[in-house]
Amino acid sequence: MRIDVVTIFPEYLEPLRAALLGRAIERGLIEVDVHDLRDWTHDVHRSVDDSPYGGGPGMVMKPQIWGAALDEVCATPARLIVPSPAGRPFTQAMAHELAAEPRLVFACGRYEGIDQRVIDDAATRMPVDEVSIGDYVLIGGEVAVLVMVEAIVRLLPGVLGNQLSHEQDSFSDGLLEGPSYTRPEVWRGLAVPEVLRSGNHALIDRWRRDQALARTYERRPDLLAALPEDALDQHDHAV
Ligand code: ADE
Repeated sequence: MRIDVVTIFPEYLEPLRAALLGRAIERGLIEVDVHDLRDWTHDVHRSVDDSPYGGGPGMVMKPQIWGAALDEVCATPARLIVPSPAGRPFTQAMAHELAAEPRLVFACGRYEGIDQRVIDDAATRMPVDEVSIGDYVLIGGEVAVLVMVEAIVRLLPGVLGNQLSHEQDSFSDGLLEGPSYTRPEVWRGLAVPEVLRSGNHALIDRWRRDQALARTYERRPDLLAALPEDALDQHDHAV
């Protein structure tokens, strides 16, 4: 997969080159290119924003500069993602969908956003999604890109050591993941649940499922309500 990011703060994206993502780059599993939007400016101040039509606070990013940047960066076919608090919610299902794309381009807006015509114009030539990572407002899209890229790239074959680890993730079966434990057996007077040391795998699977159901019921009842009817078996209903 190839990932391009256009931003006025390229240094914000440096964490992409660290840890697991950095290793995925070194191993050729992903290719990442970060572009400075100001490279497409022509004035001495390299300005990228202007005041909004209709008045109001903040600044809007100018269409000409974004237009030129996206013409160049999206010259080879890509799916364009524009992080925005006004976008569709980013979910694990969307991470899976985007992980199947050969090429993603992220356009990071700052200030009050990007002139809408940039998005509308791009949408005549390529798939475009405005995407929000949650119901809160960040200063810009850069951190949202870090979040999305991490969620997407860890799903690519070979990135995680153990392919099973993301099959058991929270959300992969519509539920939150239950608690995990490692040695020692007792720590600060707290014991690891007996069942996990029983060696009875059917019992362990049932216990984990019950924990996931109980946790989801308590913390995210909205997720339980959204499960399809056949997602719960008889035992689940008893929990
Ligand atoms: N930019 C500002 N806030 C954002 C959010 N919640 N999600 C995505 N991009 C954003």
